[in-house]
Amino acid sequence: MKDLKKIFEERRSVKFFDKDKKVDDEMLSEIINLATLAPSSFNLQPWEIIAVKTEEYKKVLHDEACKQPKVLNAPITLIIIGNKKGYLRENPIWEEKIKLGLTEEKIQGIIGYSEKNLYPTEEKKTAFAARNSSLLAMSIMYAAKYHGVDTHPMIGFNEDKVKEIFNIDENKIVTMIISMGYFDESNQLKPREKRFNYDEIVKEY
Ligand SMILES: Cc1cc2nc3c(=O)[nH]c(=O)nc-3n(C[C@H](O)[C@H](O)[C@H](O)COP(=O)(O)O)c2cc1C
Repeated sequence: MKDLKKIFEERRSVKFFDKDKKVDDEMLSEIINLATLAPSSFNLQPWEIIAVKTEEYKKVLHDEACKQPKVLNAPITLIIIGNKKGYLRENPIWEEKIKLGLTEEKIQGIIGYSEKNLYPTEEKKTAFAARNSSLLAMSIMYAAKYHGVDTHPMIGFNEDKVKEIFNIDENKIVTMIISMGYFDESNQLKPREKRFNYDEIVKEY
């Protein structure tokens, strides 16, 4: 079992991927299935993933992602999607909760409260989608590292274009994209940049 502390310390945003080292389908699903243990509000899991693997779509995505070379070089780039309406009744997770004993009335109460008080505006709905799916994204990066697979998160892309190309509907946001593969050892990453520490970021009340 790999030390979690080591995974935190060793994960880097890897700019250089070995073009010849593929991530096989089994490994990809292993990573995603591990990452889905991430928490989400009411366990709604308002997220989806598009795995871009073909040269054709990698090129298209590369064009819309500021031509960042890692999108072309990595064997896979994941498009992490958050659903702004993920709390509504059509989410199949509500059926699971019914099996566990939650009543329809309670569910309608939660949805109503969410719509009215928690996510009444577009901004708050977007935040709901982004908050939850970002936890999935981070979990994917750590799950990948656990399996020896490197990643690179990016928000440098044209979201409207990516949504259009990959048929992502208007209720969804593209939270980030994550290129994934194996570090090209012929390159070197710059040393990790400074992190703000406890004293710099924590206010105690
Ligand atoms: C939400 C998010 C968006 C990012 N977008 C980009 C990007 O578009 N292009 C890029 O080169 N790096 C991007 N990065 C990578 C960061 O620059 C990197 O995580 C940071 O410099 C810390 O380096 P490390 O991940 O190696 O520790 C992004 C990281 C995050 C978390």
